Amino acid sequence: MNGRRVMVGDYKIGQEEKDVIMEILDSGRISEYKYVAQFEREFAKIIGVKYCVLVNSGTSALIAALTALLYDERFPKIKKGAKVITTPLTYIATSNAIKLVGMEPAFVDVHLDTFDMIPEQVEAVLKNGNPDDFAMLLPVHLMGYPADMDALNAIAKKYGLVTFEDTAQAHGTKYKGKNTGTLSLIADYSFYIAHNIQVGEMGAAITNDEKLYRLIKKIKANGRMCDCVVCTRSQGTCPKDNLGSDPRFLHDMIGYNFKTMEFQAALGVLQLKRFDEIIRSRQDNVKYLNEGLKTFSDRLVLPKWDEAISYLAYPIVVRKGSGIEREALRKKLEKLGVENRPLFGSIPTGQPAYHDYKAYYEGKLPNADYLGENAFYIGCHQYLEKEDLDHIIDAFYEAMKFC
Ligand SMILES: Cc1ncc(COP(=O)(O)O)c(C=O)c1O
Repeated sequence: MNGRRVMVGDYKIGQEEKDVIMEILDSGRISEYKYVAQFEREFAKIIGVKYCVLVNSGTSALIAALTALLYDERFPKIKKGAKVITTPLTYIATSNAIKLVGMEPAFVDVHLDTFDMIPEQVEAVLKNGNPDDFAMLLPVHLMGYPADMDALNAIAKKYGLVTFEDTAQAHGTKYKGKNTGTLSLIADYSFYIAHNIQVGEMGAAITNDEKLYRLIKKIKANGRMCDCVVCTRSQGTCPKDNLGSDPRFLHDMIGYNFKTMEFQAALGVLQLKRFDEIIRSRQDNVKYLNEGLKTFSDRLVLPKWDEAISYLAYPIVVRKGSGIEREALRKKLEKLGVENRPLFGSIPTGQPAYHDYKAYYEGKLPNADYLGENAFYIGCHQYLEKEDLDHIIDAFYEAMKFC
């Protein structure tokens, strides 16, 4: 092999990126300002929602949006201790956010091929428990595969629950022609480095609901009484100046500081210009790899290709009975220069932070457990060149000789 290293995610800084960072530094306005507002406007338009609030991470977006729901008296079932039905197979932030706002994750098993919550199991959990204990369904569109939102929304409607999409990994994935994130009351995104729109660290909550939007704006800024859809302060007017003090320093609720900075937002604005191109190039890479690796499909489940999917990465599942040990294959690929990561692990049975849940969930989530132990992913990002894709394919040919 040739010493090449193919990363799960990458980020190329070009002249445009350097110029905009210098422009911000020269302007002296580095905390949230015009690029934050521009990203919010443009991202909401691309996704097809009314409102977007930018925050410093996807985790913060989850916490802020869940906190807004807890504050909103229109949703009396959403309260501390209420159960949120979610997937065990996700980046841990989804479940951590539920716990951190004082609610309880209730995990259901996932489909083996598309990694999303099985709607029948969601309904079974509701039927077998006390439906009044449950407040919300929180599906994750893992790796860009859309969850079955029609089925989940139908269940939510039947039981009077709210749906909340964690679409951190599915920027621009379409479900029946609509972007994920627009199929529920509220959704979060992450723009972490390996994601499709990537800026290092940043996140967003999106919604069509004005009240939730205003609440999230406040929660992300320590509960300040400053929640206008369009700020007119720089034009010398503020509709809230009659409150007796500056609304930016009056607080009528308790919140966090989740604000982001102009640098990340400006890098994001540049990426939004290439939104469709990024998605298409990842789709092309998945198609190319699927063709190049198809000889292994008796032992490895390769990703399903669909033009509606905006791929976060290239997930691979070791088939049952293939005799392949995932960790041995992963290590071999790493040695051959193909960076890869496990598909997160099933949270209640595999994550030490959730050891309290282990005994209860042992044996109840066979698909999530299987995927947690036998699935992994490699990169399919837009910076990969044909030589990188060929290198991945050659590495698999080499590694599979020993598996
Ligand atoms: C499904 C999911 N939810 C939430 C997050 C949290 O996002 P962040 O890392 O930006 O905090 C991530 C991050 O990768 C994620 O994949």
